[in-house]
Amino acid sequence: MRSPDGIPETALRLTVFGTGYLGITHAACMASLGFEVLGVDTDATKVASLMAGHVPIYEPGLPELLRTQLKAGRLRFSTSYEKAAAFGDVHFICTGTPQLPGGEGADLSQVRACVTALAPLARATSLLVGKSTVPVGTARALTLELTGAGHQVEIAWNPEFLREGTAVTDTLAPDRIVAGVTSQRAEDLLRRVYDPILGGAPTRFFATTLETAELAKVAANAFLATKISFINAMAEVCEASGANVRGLSEILGADPRIGESFLRAGLGFGGGCLPKDIRAFMARSADLGVDSAAGLLREVEKINLRRRSRTADLALELAGGDLTEVSVCVLGAAFKPGSDDVRESPALDVAQILHGLGAHVTVYDPVAMANAARACPELAYADTLAEAATGASVVLLATEWAEFATLRPSDLAGVVKHKNIIDARNALRPELWRIAGWNYRALGVGAEASAAV
Ligand code: UDX
Repeated sequence: MRSPDGIPETALRLTVFGTGYLGITHAACMASLGFEVLGVDTDATKVASLMAGHVPIYEPGLPELLRTQLKAGRLRFSTSYEKAAAFGDVHFICTGTPQLPGGEGADLSQVRACVTALAPLARATSLLVGKSTVPVGTARALTLELTGAGHQVEIAWNPEFLREGTAVTDTLAPDRIVAGVTSQRAEDLLRRVYDPILGGAPTRFFATTLETAELAKVAANAFLATKISFINAMAEVCEASGANVRGLSEILGADPRIGESFLRAGLGFGGGCLPKDIRAFMARSADLGVDSAAGLLREVEKINLRRRSRTADLALELAGGDLTEVSVCVLGAAFKPGSDDVRESPALDVAQILHGLGAHVTVYDPVAMANAARACPELAYADTLAEAATGASVVLLATEWAEFATLRPSDLAGVVKHKNIIDARNALRPELWRIAGWNYRALGVGAEASAAV
């Protein structure tokens, strides 16, 4: 039986193009909802490895989910666009949109290549659904191009808000689903895809225009980045005035109009999304002639980067003004706990700054060591936390992994050379360290005030 949209009522089949963070998670999660899913990537080695059940990223729960769905026969991977076009009723585009080399805008070449290769092959009744983060106006421009080339296939945009470290639960129980559509048919198809989720979780479904949907994603990330930089700007004032940003953040967060999340002061934001998305937003705003939005985010980025130089200054201060040959232990390489992603990692950036100032930097991270060593081969890496701290004159907590946040002064006292610690994520209990005789310094806390939160 076929439904009014021309697609079989019972057997909606999905494809997912691009098997990066987003694509693997989306494909495995959609299969777990009962759909038959075909993941597509041009990289044959990657496809073979995924078929063998191997997930190339650290993401809790994802390897298990992938293997279960492969075994159940609901999920497969292929390099063939022809097969995918013949198979899919709804095609999700999850290819990467990195920053353009030498520019701030987004590089749309992967999205464009995928859409232009798929459109001539896809059935006219199928729907192309972009999930990649793109500058506002992209979906409309692609639609015009396809129409101009005589292809009938329709495009919708359905941005993804998942966070690394909680990607599976974010996908299966999202707080909102945004469907940028140009027809009722496209909205109905997306509602059919997400029906298993909409039935259970308290998820809101927003049907809107292509442009609003695209902007919804970028604006959300711009707002989150702004919130982090706002509290980090307050941290600068705290450092100068003797106030304490941890206490300030708690007080501000108690106001429901402000809210406590994304108000943790520290080394600031990094990763594969927030930094590149705000830059792409600045570039797009400038293109559109709306420079004021770009001005706000330019300041957000400056505040974010200033936290890194401030951390390096604290290390310099604790080392007596000269870091040459000084051993520094950096705890954390990932851009945040729960991830092995080191893209634009504040932790690694500070480690590199300290290395540049002549320090002997040894890094330890529970999961991101291989990626860190590839990205920054000039740094030293230790296999254990204790090994990294051995002989250190300064210990720097740069990513708030639980095993670092629960450290006690006695865990390190026997191995370090000098008892100097910088808590760049405001994760430790200052009084414990001070009582144990450490010079404890934190971001957003004046030297004297750092004893009391
Ligand atoms: C982000 C968005 O949250 C997500 O919705 C989007 O789909 C992708 O980008 P992610 O990159 O996984 O997700 O990381 P997120 O949890 O948002 O953290 C971003 C950065 O901000 C991290 O470096 C984190 O350490 C930092 N951060 C976060 C703070 O410095 N303070 C906070 O209070 C919160």
